[in-house]
Amino acid sequence: MLLREIKKIYHTELDAIYPVEEVNSFFYMTIEHYLGLQRFILAMQPDYVVAKEEEASLFLTINLLKKQVPIQYILGTAHFMGLDFNVSSNVLIPRPETEELVSWILSETPLDREVNILDIGTGSGCIAISLAKNLPNAKVFALDVSKDALLVAKKNADNNGVLVTFLEHNILQEPNLQQKFDIIVSNPPYVRELEKKEMTANVLKNEPSLALFVSDKEPLTFYNAITNFAVKHLNENGKLYFEINQYLGGETQEVLEKQDFVTIELRKDMFGNDRMLRGQLIK
Ligand SMILES: C[S@@+](CC[C@H](N)C(=O)[O-])C[C@H]1O[C@@H](n2cnc3c(N)ncnc32)[C@H](O)[C@@H]1O
Repeated sequence: MLLREIKKIYHTELDAIYPVEEVNSFFYMTIEHYLGLQRFILAMQPDYVVAKEEEASLFLTINLLKKQVPIQYILGTAHFMGLDFNVSSNVLIPRPETEELVSWILSETPLDREVNILDIGTGSGCIAISLAKNLPNAKVFALDVSKDALLVAKKNADNNGVLVTFLEHNILQEPNLQQKFDIIVSNPPYVRELEKKEMTANVLKNEPSLALFVSDKEPLTFYNAITNFAVKHLNENGKLYFEINQYLGGETQEVLEKQDFVTIELRKDMFGNDRMLRGQLIK
């Protein structure tokens, strides 16, 4: 079948569900992934023919997209900080807001400094791995409660050629760790049950609840636990960075203010929402 005919089928089947530009993007991501074809292929070769045996995965992708499965889970890969990450339904798809958090940390951490870093709730490992990739003198540790997520993260560290020490712990049960860190970073679960109605079907149906949700009554459980952990496990002047719930900026900031953190800063993401928090521990 001609590639342009398949593109037409993508639009016929999917334009009612997704914006046209997004369908274009799905199509090009899919042909790049399965056929190794670049975006400009149709401009260069309008009559490009897809072999019969190569058609199946292109049509299967349409069916999964119709069921609201995110394209990253279908293709099994996501981009973050210029790197490729394997993703499965056991890990959250890395978000652009989280790239802003990583960029903030990088902007404040001299390249030549020997630092110990811990990423809590590492998921795909996107934060830990991109920090390890960009900070050659850092020793990076990453923790998650999910065995399955840690398997994905380990593979991602190998694929990206970095050394990260992975730890399986529940951060809500005061892990007994001996190490001390200069930087602790976390993007913990922070979406309240009451916010589910704001979320799109593809997130609700496909992304792991363990990575996303907290109770309406105690939405800051993870921030309290991680801050208490950080007070014990940060070196003097060590920094704690959080990605946060946009509706709870003030309350989350107070968690740090109640402890010995200084130079506390709340930052907005590219969408203008309160999304990141940083504090430095004085002892
Ligand atoms: C919002 S996701 C963040 C994933 C990744 N760091 C990112 O930014 O894309 C939260 C992560 O916390 C992990 N998690 C949930 N409960 C946890 C717990 N009690 N202890 C440690 N990790 C936990 C989940 O498995 C998930 O990987």
